[in-house]
Amino acid sequence: MAPQEFDTIAFRNALGSFTTGVTIITATAPDGTPVGLTANSFNSVSLEPPMVLWSLAKTSLSLDAFNEAIHWNVHVLSQDQQDLSNTFASRGENKFQGIALDKGISDAPLIPNCSARFQCKNIVTHDGGDHLIYIGEVLSFDQQTLPPLVFQQGQYAMTARKPWEGVALSSEPSSPQCSYNEDLLGYLLGRSHFQMLFRMRKVFDEQAHEDSHFFALSVLNIQSRLTLEQLNDHIEYTGHSLADSDIEFLINQDLIEILDDEHYQLTDHGRETSLVHIAQAKAIEEELIEKLGVGDVMALKLLLKRLITSTDPGLPDLWKTQEPK
Ligand SMILES: Cc1cc2nc3c(=O)[nH]c(=O)nc-3n(C[C@H](O)[C@H](O)[C@H](O)COP(=O)(O)O)c2cc1C
Repeated sequence: MAPQEFDTIAFRNALGSFTTGVTIITATAPDGTPVGLTANSFNSVSLEPPMVLWSLAKTSLSLDAFNEAIHWNVHVLSQDQQDLSNTFASRGENKFQGIALDKGISDAPLIPNCSARFQCKNIVTHDGGDHLIYIGEVLSFDQQTLPPLVFQQGQYAMTARKPWEGVALSSEPSSPQCSYNEDLLGYLLGRSHFQMLFRMRKVFDEQAHEDSHFFALSVLNIQSRLTLEQLNDHIEYTGHSLADSDIEFLINQDLIEILDDEHYQLTDHGRETSLVHIAQAKAIEEELIEKLGVGDVMALKLLLKRLITSTDPGLPDLWKTQEPK
């Protein structure tokens, strides 16, 4: 086969299919200036002796510093460090401003709160086209259970683990006559919603609450002083609505009170009740994190937020105009 004509942009896009983590590599220049850049060319080389590599564009402003440096540190960034990644992907000075560095075994800057860190001594530098390839021996490393930041097709991403054994809700094959199947998104969302809130429902039942009462209390917890109409605007998407009789019930239970201008707010007892609901919801979430892992739960939340945004029927923004409590 004849060699392919190289379209550099298509080549770069094809490389983007190879999903990587995101690192920041740091060193100190001979004059003591700390240097660092975001890099996803990092990779493992050898276990014994422990060795890693990464490559640096020859156009980098930090080129001279890395060529002089005996040591460099690799920081595998966590999901919360996307802003840091952007800072170190810029060609500027003062990238380290505001970072309280840890003390490492060499003069290379050591950034805290990463998924993993490798403190290295440079062994050899190879020419690699428009990049230089640095291979280093790992002198020390550490790791934290912080889910890593991911980079794919030119975008930051999060990972969700795929269990080896596959995930099936039921072992029964669906009948050929039935086109309703367990992969239907609406079914998955509905079932996970009800399963997760099953224990919340027990709390409501104990308190003799309808779902709509729960919605009213949580909305009033976020925004106080709402009219019945405004409350209903916020909960319309749930298929529930509050009638005058619900408001009467909530007032009789000393959960909400009316202000002189037809607006409602939580009473102290209402606020406490709402806090019980929030505590219960947090306990359920903690258990889920135990089972799924913090990274998968973060990835799930991201997808749910995107789903909510893309299906928003135009709800009033509950969170934006939050009043200080
Ligand atoms: C996710 C990501 C990965 C990157 N990987 C590399 C890399 O492996 N090597 C490199 O030289 N530049 C890489 N860059 C680009 C540099 O971070 C960027 O050019 C930076 O401005 C270099 O800074 P400097 O010129 O101050 O050294 C990457 C950028 C991003 C956002």
